[in-house]
Amino acid sequence: MTTQGFNQWMSHIQERTEAALARALPAPDIAPARLHEAMRYAVLGGGKRVRPLLVHAAGDVSGGAPERLDRAACAIEMIHAYSLVHDDMPCMDDDTLRRGKPTVHVQFDDATALLVGDALQTLAFQHIAEAQVSDSPQRQLGMIRQLAIASGSRGMAGGQAIDLASVGLQLSLAELEFMHIHKTGALIRASIGLGVQCGRDLGEDELASLDHVGKVIGLLFQVVDDILDAEADTATLGKTAGKDAANDKPTYVSLLGVTRARALAEEMCAEALDRLAAFGQPARRLSELTRFIVQRQF
Ligand code: IPE
Ligand code: IPE
Ligand code: MG
Ligand code: MG
Ligand code: MG
Repeated sequence: MTTQGFNQWMSHIQERTEAALARALPAPDIAPARLHEAMRYAVLGGGKRVRPLLVHAAGDVSGGAPERLDRAACAIEMIHAYSLVHDDMPCMDDDTLRRGKPTVHVQFDDATALLVGDALQTLAFQHIAEAQVSDSPQRQLGMIRQLAIASGSRGMAGGQAIDLASVGLQLSLAELEFMHIHKTGALIRASIGLGVQCGRDLGEDELASLDHVGKVIGLLFQVVDDILDAEADTATLGKTAGKDAANDKPTYVSLLGVTRARALAEEMCAEALDRLAAFGQPARRLSELTRFIVQRQF
């Protein structure tokens, strides 16, 4: 498949995700209008939509219907957007720029940013619970549970807690991996897991293999995020560059340096692609997306 084909597919999914999110979020004139305006500000009109892209690409493997995939994709993107709003707050990374715009607490205020996160998180679960996204109700319950685990203290929120507790510390490679697998990897892994379950039942071995791919892509995503924080500029990233060093965060770059971190990302990419090759053509988008995640410039 040509790069052109992939780029077109990516734009198509990004556009349908934007439209689905715009429909799913409360209108800005519904009371409380300021909160709804801030929720829409946090979610719409920005971001690469990597998690929705992963949901759709994984859905291709099991033949999931696009409308089901949109729903799972929106739920995960709402959780992700909430995690960014809180991540940027003064009590966490204290960032003023996100997706090329002032962060939510800067544009609105701290209390609104907190509430945006609260409301987006619950809306995500409402959204995935109120329509059919899987062939069996049993499996849909399992998907909701999987999203809850990936978002909570054994997933993203737990990873964020480790991140904050690690400021100024030199972590071992194993500790750093543990942190990244949770703070970023969990939602990426859930994106693939949920996408796959929107379609037909796959065998245990296939599911386990795709789950492993999700784990590898999740870690590699944050390794590349660490590299870009150190190497790219603020205008390209749409968020403040050099923030990890400024905040004294342990990262793959602070531990290994850019060259070795990059080599590790390439190694993980190769491992994921190798696994995906066994799925043939239906996993084509997932393979292309994996390469995009490693090669991205922002
Ligand atoms: C940034 O995620 C935060 C991390 C979890 C590393 P993305 O790089 O996916 O951010 P957006 O959604 O494109 O803005
Ligand atoms: C954030 O990691 C992970 C989240 C759960 C939001 P970072 O703090 O590195 O994300 P950026 O670099 O601010 O996007
Ligand atoms: Mg952070
Ligand atoms: Mg941050
Ligand atoms: Mg970062």
